[in-house]
Amino acid sequence: MSLDTTAVKELVGQHAVDELVRSGMKVGLGTGSTAVWAVRRLGRLLQEGSLRDILAVATSSQTEMECQKLGIPLRNMNDPEIDGRIDVVIDGADEVDPQLNLTKGGGGALLREKVVAYAAGRVGIITDPSKIADRLGLNFPVPVEVVPMARLPVTRSLEAIGGKPEVRMAQRKMGAVITDNGNILLDVTFPEPFDPPLMERRINEIPGVVENGLFCGIEPVVYVGKESGEVETRTAR
Ligand code: 5RP
Repeated sequence: MSLDTTAVKELVGQHAVDELVRSGMKVGLGTGSTAVWAVRRLGRLLQEGSLRDILAVATSSQTEMECQKLGIPLRNMNDPEIDGRIDVVIDGADEVDPQLNLTKGGGGALLREKVVAYAAGRVGIITDPSKIADRLGLNFPVPVEVVPMARLPVTRSLEAIGGKPEVRMAQRKMGAVITDNGNILLDVTFPEPFDPPLMERRINEIPGVVENGLFCGIEPVVYVGKESGEVETRTAR
């Protein structure tokens, strides 16, 4: 058996839901072309009645629309039923290093993804072998969400810590990508190796930065879907 890219994403998305989600849970739902398969699996299991009493928190307008289409009950992190904590989140990633530090935000949803992941009892990350990296920030830039008036001050500060930032430009609209939170994104490559947990903190110390796409120390379980139809599980512990 040799699955194509889409089938691998479907496989690993389904696998994570089957492994991690149980009736009665508060579930965070990630964003992207892999996470959407977890959303669809959850929708299917709810429709079939195999799962019940699920409340979901979406990490982007894309995921929110998918949930609405599938009838998945949505809440936000501030709703009393959620009360700022969720049981589990399932999300994709752009890069995963050997310590299971992540780069996320390729879909521009890093702020909400991080709020939800850091408020989750368990984080399941669904990937394929193309996401596994020796180190972060070389092949895939680190996205940084920035308030628009701070674009150039933040750019200069990121350059001072070794980054090469570029404004993420929109497609089929002139100008910069505007996030679900009304901010812009700087995509930052790092030609030299860096310490991910330290860099996550340093970037967030820059005034005007709202959040960055390095996710360190969340101890995720990482599922790696393979063309063979297998799913490898990686944990830090
Ligand atoms: C969106 C993300 C996504 O999880 C990440 O970009 C991976 O997306 P895909 O599964 O489409 O490759 O962080 O902000």
